[in-house]
Amino acid sequence: MPSTVSRRRFAAGAAASFFALTARKSYGYPAETRRIAVHADVEIGVIRPELHGHFAEHLGSCIYGGLWLGKGSPLADANGFRKQAIQYLKELGVPVLRWPGGCFADDYHWRDGIGPLARRPKRVNIWWGDYTEDNSFGTHEFIAMCRAIGAEPYFAGNVGSGSPKELRDWVEYCNYPAGSTLADERASNGSMEPFRVRYWGVGNENWGCGGTMTAEEYCTLYRQFATFVRPFGGTPPYLIACGPNSNDLEWSRRFMQSMEAAKLRRRPDGFSMHFYSGGKNTPLAYTVENMCEQLSSFARMEQAVLQQRALLDTYDPDRKMGLLIDEWGVWDRMIPEEEKRLGRLFQQNTIRSAVAAAMGLNVFHRQADKLVMCNIAQTVNVLHAMLLTDRDKCIRTPSYYAFQLAAPHRGKTAVRLESSDAAPLAISAAASRQNNDLVLTLANPKHDAGVKLECPVGGARAVSATARLLHHEDFNAANTFDAPDRIMPREHPVTLNGQAIAIELPPMSVATVIARLA
Ligand code: AHR
Repeated sequence: MPSTVSRRRFAAGAAASFFALTARKSYGYPAETRRIAVHADVEIGVIRPELHGHFAEHLGSCIYGGLWLGKGSPLADANGFRKQAIQYLKELGVPVLRWPGGCFADDYHWRDGIGPLARRPKRVNIWWGDYTEDNSFGTHEFIAMCRAIGAEPYFAGNVGSGSPKELRDWVEYCNYPAGSTLADERASNGSMEPFRVRYWGVGNENWGCGGTMTAEEYCTLYRQFATFVRPFGGTPPYLIACGPNSNDLEWSRRFMQSMEAAKLRRRPDGFSMHFYSGGKNTPLAYTVENMCEQLSSFARMEQAVLQQRALLDTYDPDRKMGLLIDEWGVWDRMIPEEEKRLGRLFQQNTIRSAVAAAMGLNVFHRQADKLVMCNIAQTVNVLHAMLLTDRDKCIRTPSYYAFQLAAPHRGKTAVRLESSDAAPLAISAAASRQNNDLVLTLANPKHDAGVKLECPVGGARAVSATARLLHHEDFNAANTFDAPDRIMPREHPVTLNGQAIAIELPPMSVATVIARLA
């Protein structure tokens, strides 16, 4: 947990009373005592709600069968969206939703997904199983879904197999108010009002499925595509360039060098890295070793944020270009029979996944001054999902609740924390403040040890606190279609010892403390 406050000063004062391992049994597990100081007056930056963003691709049953059932389905609303999923996502709050891919984006041609259904062409989804995509879910359906859940739309444009004209036309179709042929076509397809879409990705993973390009080749195409994307109708496009695969500094450096060499007047507004936390086991059968390996990846993710931002800073010291992670999450080993039944990359979600989600979110909160958007992959049924569906059933995963527990941070200012334990599986924490409200999110990634946590608050006086906790003693426990509410957040005891917030975190738990400051 990087800190600007002197570690030595903190460690000296704290060592005697707080850091001794008590190895005392509490509630049936050994509990260690730990201390994390909250510097409520040392600000990091505003936690943009977009750090809690989502991603939905035409992949498996994320859209078709998951979010979208089509008009006429008894489970769907008048627009064809799964009612229960819309309600859950609305309740969670989805600040921004990226679509239609992923790899799918660079083989997607937006005109296929507009106009009367019967005339929409059927294409083969070459990335996710060669199934026939009937394009019944397209631009208008996506915008309607974003409106229904209150999300800002983020379109990923096609660079790999598309053209600059195709992308600029999509932007005009969406954003130009009226009078152009494209704007009038939008109106005749049901929307007089422009969509005013701000976020536009210029390709996806163009180092891989988006065209297997070098950074220089991609940079050339980026410049060409970006030249024609205009602030149609007064909506300034926020253009997002394809960044590295995990912490590939070479890609970022070469992209930025090519930008410099071309003397581009307008840099991309955003630069997006993808960071997945791979896993060796199927979701319900993790071993301790593989779980610890997967959860340790969040320390590398934080390192990646620091190093990528530092590299961008050398070209862009004023941070005009934002760093994004527009795909992240745990990627476990799939079960082929399950994928056949429930769709490609269908992945069950356990308390381990929720702890992982909380650790990722805490990285973003702590690095709020360096990140502008992060999108978990993916919203429904695919990879690190919030919701799982099977025919008429729709359930909330433990990760949904990890996002819910983090929601109070949105829009608040992240403040500095200080801990003497920098191990990858140490307690994960983040804090934010707005006036007299202090939010502290925590995760205990240990499967065999609880923690008695003391959080002295500096720079303000905490006068009251409440807490909620998500926990299961079995790290392979999940919410299933038969037992959908096994893992849910509950009220949890928290006390104020003088100036410190004191809370006990059982193994494999995620918690949020809301404190009132005087
Ligand atoms: O999220 C699944 C896939 O992972 C996306 O399509 C791609 O961008 C990434 O490799």
